Amino acid sequence: MAGMKTKGITYSLVGVDLGSQSIKAVAISGRRGKYTTQAYDIPTPAGVIEDGQIKDLGKLELTLRELFKSFNVKPKFVATSVSGTRPTTKIIELDAKLSDSALQKAVEEEVDNILSGDRIYDYEILQQEGDKNKVLISVVSSDLVNDRVATFSNMNVQVKVMDVSIHALARAVRDVVGESVLKASKHVALLDIGAQSLSFAVLDEDFEVSYHRVVPSGGNQLTENLSMATGMDLESAEKMKIEDRIPEANKPIEDAYVNSVIRNAERLMMGQRDIDTVIVTGGGALLKRLQTQLRSFQQKKVIFPDMSKVMKPGSKVEDGLKYMTALGLALRSFEPCPI
Ligand SMILES: Nc1ncnc2c1ncn2[C@@H]1O[C@H](COP(=O)(O)OP(=O)(O)OP(=O)(O)O)[C@@H](O)[C@H]1O
Ligand SMILES: [Mg+2]
Repeated sequence: MAGMKTKGITYSLVGVDLGSQSIKAVAISGRRGKYTTQAYDIPTPAGVIEDGQIKDLGKLELTLRELFKSFNVKPKFVATSVSGTRPTTKIIELDAKLSDSALQKAVEEEVDNILSGDRIYDYEILQQEGDKNKVLISVVSSDLVNDRVATFSNMNVQVKVMDVSIHALARAVRDVVGESVLKASKHVALLDIGAQSLSFAVLDEDFEVSYHRVVPSGGNQLTENLSMATGMDLESAEKMKIEDRIPEANKPIEDAYVNSVIRNAERLMMGQRDIDTVIVTGGGALLKRLQTQLRSFQQKKVIFPDMSKVMKPGSKVEDGLKYMTALGLALRSFEPCPI
């Protein structure tokens, strides 16, 4: 794959996570296990992305242009993702000796079984087991993808990888938390606390997503409740929240929100057997009070991944928890790219 040059740094691919509150970009240079990461984000204008759908392509394009400008990159290629409940993913096993064209054909046959009509798919060879390859196939109806591709192509940027957000997150978790830590667990769950959504996933024995659900609950709820209680506008309430300056008088509002997140997590986990490790990510996971409460969640091992662990000494990403999905997208630059 051709590279992207900016001020002497070559990135193969920039990961772009289109969140409802902010758009995050992560660029990686170096090699697996020894890379540096640059990460930036920019607020998503209100209403432009809702429930994984782009509501205003023009505004999104302007925002992306601004993001790349402040990031000081001119990407040629990006890896981005679709999120929400509509994407379908499936893991199949195929003969490891298949030629590229036979593999492509087998994948296409499977895609036909998953979704008919206008659809777009992507696949990734996960690993070889004996004489079989485990292949992850993601399929989504075209409309969800087309808007994203069109927005980037207006900027002369090619979408090389269209992933599903939760799979990108699992990839970042494998890299940052590390398979040795994951292997010590019976079953691992992911909890991504965003602005509008709470994504929950269970990983299989190879740390791939085997179950996934998204519920409409996220950090926005606390900001809105604080704004209502204090009379502050949303922007000031948000600032007060992220700067950890919630007044003592409003702590019960924070507690009620934290309890509601915990209850949601409990509900999502109900019926899932033997989950002993929960990996928590997303900007919403940066709330200190929530971190404290989650650390003693159902006597499980709760991990907040630390991105600095996988980067070269000296490279730093603040607020790494909210960049995990974008990191997982950028990590696709270390893998063969089928598109
Ligand atoms: N330091 C912080 N302390 C507390 N909350 C924070 C902090 N930083 C960000 N947040 C909250 O995290 C949420 C945004 O998280 P994130 O960036 O993961 O969401 P998103 O990806 O844009 O949204 P979604 O995935 O729901 O579309 C917001 O509610 C924001 O207030
Ligand atoms: Mg998100």
